Amino acid sequence: MHLTKVTAVFYSATGNTHKNVLRLARSIADKLGLPLTVFDYTLPDSRTVHQTFTPQDLVLFGTPVYAGRIPNKLLPYVQDGFTGNEALAIPLVTFGNRSFDNGLVELRNELENNGFHTIAGAAIPARHAFSDRIAAGRPDPHDLKLVDEFLSALLLLITKIQETSLPPAPVQVPGENPPLTYYTPLGTDGKPTVFLKAKPKTYIELCDDCGVCAAVCPMGAISHEDTSQVPGTCIKCQACIRKCHTHAKYFDDPAFLSHVAMLEEHCTHPCEPKFFYACEP
Ligand SMILES: Cc1cc2nc3c(=O)[nH]c(=O)nc-3n(C[C@H](O)[C@H](O)[C@H](O)COP(=O)(O)O)c2cc1C
Ligand code: SF4
Ligand code: SF4
Repeated sequence: MHLTKVTAVFYSATGNTHKNVLRLARSIADKLGLPLTVFDYTLPDSRTVHQTFTPQDLVLFGTPVYAGRIPNKLLPYVQDGFTGNEALAIPLVTFGNRSFDNGLVELRNELENNGFHTIAGAAIPARHAFSDRIAAGRPDPHDLKLVDEFLSALLLLITKIQETSLPPAPVQVPGENPPLTYYTPLGTDGKPTVFLKAKPKTYIELCDDCGVCAAVCPMGAISHEDTSQVPGTCIKCQACIRKCHTHAKYFDDPAFLSHVAMLEEHCTHPCEPKFFYACEP
């Protein structure tokens, strides 16, 4: 088996997964002297395309963890949009310093179901999309040192796999398998809190009608004609909030704000990045 191409694949509403997958994919491609291609499935139009790989491909596949899993509205595309054809794959999740729960095992399973061979996996803490007070500045220099060590081990592993005719058994990662449960958000009172119907609002006096929020929404939920209206399904990804250059977008749903306050109180102790290998590098 000889690799001819590295591909970075990701969904990334606020940029963390994009940055982490690309950093690693670019380093691997450089070290192996292979071309790098990039497929970003964040926006709805990109998810009309089916991606087919070959045994000569190495795919770094990234998703953020939402409620302890692959974001549920993106799951159908992760399941149906990719054919691995025995390509090698590395599932990578980013998470906002609470927990990656079942996110990595679910991504590993979906990639294996799609015909990829998962050879390693990574779970990397990153700034929580909901709050700059949680994991801001992650990955930090300590995280990046661990990512570099992962990269070195991966290169050894890839060389070893290329020299043999058979890929190893799927990488073993923590989490409920099969993953059945989602994380239930808690409020500051420690009780479950529900904000499924929450949608962003707009300070009209700050909005200059640039249209960016509607253009970046992964669900196409914001009206292009009147960007203060959100007729579609909002998954609380925070893309519109973080990419509005006048800070005109905000959430005021009390249950959502209570969950964010709970996270800010309880999830500030830094989680370590975690790395897994299908066999000894
Ligand atoms: C709707 C939603 C749910 C989330 N759930 C979790 C979670 O269960 N555990 C966690 O540690 N972080 C959670 N996060 C934080 C994200 O996983 C983290 O910020 C991620 O890096 C965002 O990726 P992106 O910047 O590529 O969009 C959640 C974020 C959002 C928007
Ligand atoms: S990104 Fe901000 S300023 Fe631009 S249309 Fe949306 S709310 Fe208005
Ligand atoms: S409207 Fe909801 S789904 Fe769309 S970008 Fe904003 S937070 Fe994300």
